[in-house]
Amino acid sequence: STCLPQRRTFQTAPPPTTIPDYAFAFDIDGVLLHSSTPVPGASETLHDLRAARIPFILLTNGGGTSETARVADLSAKLNLDLDLDQFIQSHTPFADIHEYHEKTVLVIGGDYDNCARVAREDYGFQNVVTPADLITAYPDIWPFAKVFKDYYAQFARPLPPHLTTQKSLNPNDHPLTHNLKIDAIFVYNDPRDWALDLTLTIDLLLSHAGHLGTLSPLNNNSNLPNNGYQQDSQPPLLLSNPDLWWSSSYHLPRLGQGGFHAALRGLWSTITNNTADLQTRTFGKPMQGTYEFAERRLRGYRKKLFGQVGLNDPLRRVYMVGDNPASDIRGANGYVSPFGSEWKSVLVKTGVYREGTSANGFGGEKPTKVLQDVTEAVRWGMEDAE
Ligand code: G3P
Ligand code: MG
Repeated sequence: STCLPQRRTFQTAPPPTTIPDYAFAFDIDGVLLHSSTPVPGASETLHDLRAARIPFILLTNGGGTSETARVADLSAKLNLDLDLDQFIQSHTPFADIHEYHEKTVLVIGGDYDNCARVAREDYGFQNVVTPADLITAYPDIWPFAKVFKDYYAQFARPLPPHLTTQKSLNPNDHPLTHNLKIDAIFVYNDPRDWALDLTLTIDLLLSHAGHLGTLSPLNNNSNLPNNGYQQDSQPPLLLSNPDLWWSSSYHLPRLGQGGFHAALRGLWSTITNNTADLQTRTFGKPMQGTYEFAERRLRGYRKKLFGQVGLNDPLRRVYMVGDNPASDIRGANGYVSPFGSEWKSVLVKTGVYREGTSANGFGGEKPTKVLQDVTEAVRWGMEDAE
């Protein structure tokens, strides 16, 4: 019979009379899950933390569906009822971007129109279009998308008439411009059709103020602004996850949304002859803003867990457990908490990081601790904190 690994359990202390002054933040892919399969010991470890009433949150650069749906999915996979307040994914902070709520946004990434639905129904963006809508409305915009026609037809929506009346004021515009103005480009999750998504993004970055089908007059109306690209009022590009690699069910790390960003940067530098940096606003780990957003969520969840949290119940330390030196570790190491908490980074060997490779590889950083897996990470964290 196979010898089951002895389940390593902690002394699950009785519920504390005082509120613990520490907590955990767990990355998901490569720490708790490999795609849909729980990492051995992960579920039990979260159960032990729950029993010991040690607060924890899940902080992932993943996304592509609503927080509600993902939390339900994670609760089933990890066999633990997780609270929505414990969960932050790559595009969760987009819910706070109110300045574009009445504007027209292009939402890129994910399966079907799931991300567009999240933007509309969960985050309040009223005018959301997808690459499927655009390739269906303007089939010639990318000649090679015909192979995906049936896929896009399943969920493409007609462009709302009130959105297709905004003609750019540039007299030199081609008569075929589309009278559609995109005010911002969001990449919520890994693009599935990089060719179409790159084409649309480049079209808009070269456009006159986000009018699809135009070229900015600032760039001599040429396709290749060889004499130096001049920034017109192009729509801002908001990216939700810079991960170049991530750990899935494949035995080697897979290219993440950061790979799409790199491809876009390569195209942009070629098109502009290296005369213009690609202006982007990037969310997700390792960004400071993402960790601040996560700590606010963690503090709110901790208060909910214990009822009132008084001034004598400070949160002094958070253990960030991750598999990616470039996002989880770099982010926790560099995070300066406005609340005064200290974040320690624990790198596990069950994901992107492989023993023997440099933790500083691919823009990573040296963690506080390197341990085998999430079970050992929690054991060490609880001992370190006590
Ligand atoms: O798309 C998900 C991937 O970029 C990494 O996710 O959970 O390891 O932050 P995670
Ligand atoms: Mg990970």
